[in-house]
Amino acid sequence: MGGSASRSQARRRLEELRREIREADHAYYVLDRPSLTDAQYDERYRELTRLEASWPEFDDPGSPTRRVPGAVAEGFESFEHPTPMLSLNNVTSEEDFGEWVDALDRFLKDEEERAYSIEPKIDGVSLELVYRDGLLETAATRGDGFRGEDVTTNARTIRSIPPRLHGDDAPPLLVVRGEAYIRKSDFEQLNRQLEEDGAEPFANPRNLCAGSLRQLDPAIPANRPIRYFAYALGARADAPGAEGGAVVDSQTRLLERLRAFGLPTVSESRRVEERAGVAAAYADLLAKRDALPYEIDGMVAKVDDAELQERLGTRNRSPRWAVAWKFPPQRAATRLLRVVWSVGRTGTITPRADLEPVRLAGVTVSSATLHNVDELGRLGLREGDPVVVERAGDVIPRVVEVEEAKRSGSEREIVVPETCPVCDTPVERVEGRVAIRCPNFACPAQIVRHLQHFASRLGLDIRGLGEKQTQQLWDAGLVKDAADLFRLRPEDLEGLERWGAKSAKNLVEQIDQARTRPLHRFLYALGIPEVGERGAKILARTFSTLDGVLEADREHLLEIDEVGETMADAVLHWFADERNADMLARMREAGVDPEPAEAAGAGAFEGLTVVFTGKLETLSRSEAKERVEALGGRAGSSISSRTDLVVLGPGAGGKQKKAEELGVETIDEEEFLRRAGA
Ligand code: IVH
Repeated sequence: MGGSASRSQARRRLEELRREIREADHAYYVLDRPSLTDAQYDERYRELTRLEASWPEFDDPGSPTRRVPGAVAEGFESFEHPTPMLSLNNVTSEEDFGEWVDALDRFLKDEEERAYSIEPKIDGVSLELVYRDGLLETAATRGDGFRGEDVTTNARTIRSIPPRLHGDDAPPLLVVRGEAYIRKSDFEQLNRQLEEDGAEPFANPRNLCAGSLRQLDPAIPANRPIRYFAYALGARADAPGAEGGAVVDSQTRLLERLRAFGLPTVSESRRVEERAGVAAAYADLLAKRDALPYEIDGMVAKVDDAELQERLGTRNRSPRWAVAWKFPPQRAATRLLRVVWSVGRTGTITPRADLEPVRLAGVTVSSATLHNVDELGRLGLREGDPVVVERAGDVIPRVVEVEEAKRSGSEREIVVPETCPVCDTPVERVEGRVAIRCPNFACPAQIVRHLQHFASRLGLDIRGLGEKQTQQLWDAGLVKDAADLFRLRPEDLEGLERWGAKSAKNLVEQIDQARTRPLHRFLYALGIPEVGERGAKILARTFSTLDGVLEADREHLLEIDEVGETMADAVLHWFADERNADMLARMREAGVDPEPAEAAGAGAFEGLTVVFTGKLETLSRSEAKERVEALGGRAGSSISSRTDLVVLGPGAGGKQKKAEELGVETIDEEEFLRRAGA
């Protein structure tokens, strides 16, 4: 090629293909009305990639192929939001909602009815999109509201986000706020896939979405079905550059305008003319909740009129003109089929409820946690009982009550096992604790759980070795303990069900890489009682090498500030056990050689007391506390003058005020994660 006819032909074809693909993305992801079949789409996409490679001079930063990324990033840059990203005040009842409206009346000094824009509160991850001259320039997470993380490369892979705004009247600067989210069905499918592949599943769609956006390798989010809903502007009319097409006189118009730019806007939104309509809208949305393809955790009511919004302004980093009316935790009635007892890594035996499958919050629930033996008594639970299960926010469903009035009389008493359900060894009751445990060190359940822990994300992170695969290796007699993993050859695996040459080779490579993981990861992976992530780090930092740890005596251990007698004894006891010593020796023979740790350095939270308050979005409370401790800090429970740092989540309430009064530094979860180096 090269003649001017083919040159202009190529150019035209490039433009045509780019337009077609953009339209197809929009039709599929925004309008929910596919315009091409998968095969047609793929064919055009391939042709476009080929043409772009031959005609680099017709490069276009807005091309749909630019979604698919190249290199892996080393970290995320911080991004300062053009205007702070606010959060919403919450109400939980009609009465509270009424009080919010009364407060508006007082503030505006009028009692006229006003219209509201009603929207679902999407349970996703807030994401800001900055368009300059119509082109997507930056996508950033919320962070502490002032600064977030620049996740542009990852956000470009989201097909419902147009790289170029539609129409020809894009303002010089458009800052869009919205929510990235993953549909319930996509979440269920992807989680199943992750489990198949031996990866750890995610607790809920939001965690999966947040986890995907924070991947340094953009190929990962590119393959995850992240979607987007826009619902607000980041720069108001008085912000520099926000003039032009973006100025609108109401929230309803804003949503229309965003749609015209090709952005997906929050669905199910509507305008109600007066306060009385809001409660009805709430009831409607609540009734629709389960049927919606994505998770919502409430309704957002926004004063529709932009001028009124302006007058109402913001207070405490929340707009006065909007409020989130949260939904109650979701409950469903079902029946307890049986109690299943499972044996954990350290032998603790815990009950789990097997339920008659029931739809709850849009997903099928067939089991629920029962915590421990005491919980059975507290609930007065019998097998076959009609029960109510609840799923609040992100937690695993739990049985909250027995509907005694609905009992048939055929319910059976639950028998707490006297012997281990797996190896039949008589159980022990642990003094002072509610648990029962299997004391058999060689119990197959304990060993398989130990293998899972050994290979887990925080342990040696052996990808491809999840719950199913460890059980399979055990069942096939290929491994009797973690040391045997390092002797596996691809040909051992190939004959097993669902394993092929490629997956076998991959796993053996993964195991090979695990031989030299950092010492603290190795120590954690061993699963020594009392030694969590933090304890492992302390041991690694103090003794630097595995030999150093092995040689440590009681006195040595107790010299460490953070190590008490319980942990010291647990460590000594574990290493003194012949079976453990033998396992370690076999690991070393097989080339296991953990990377030595740097001598104790100042952690990110060295010497700081950190308090968490409100809801955390990506971490559980205990994970967050563990991080603080692993990085040298202390997690406190109440705010005082000795507190150094407060991590605020939504719904922080009184503690936020207290922190402000005491002048204690406050940050949000994303900033916390950033400081924790996560
Ligand atoms: S408006 C000016 N609308 O809820 C207020 N937020 O705590 C900006 N959210 O951080 C938010 N759905 O991530 C708004 N329809 C919706 C929303 C929504 C979900 C999230 C958003 C925000 C949080 C509020």
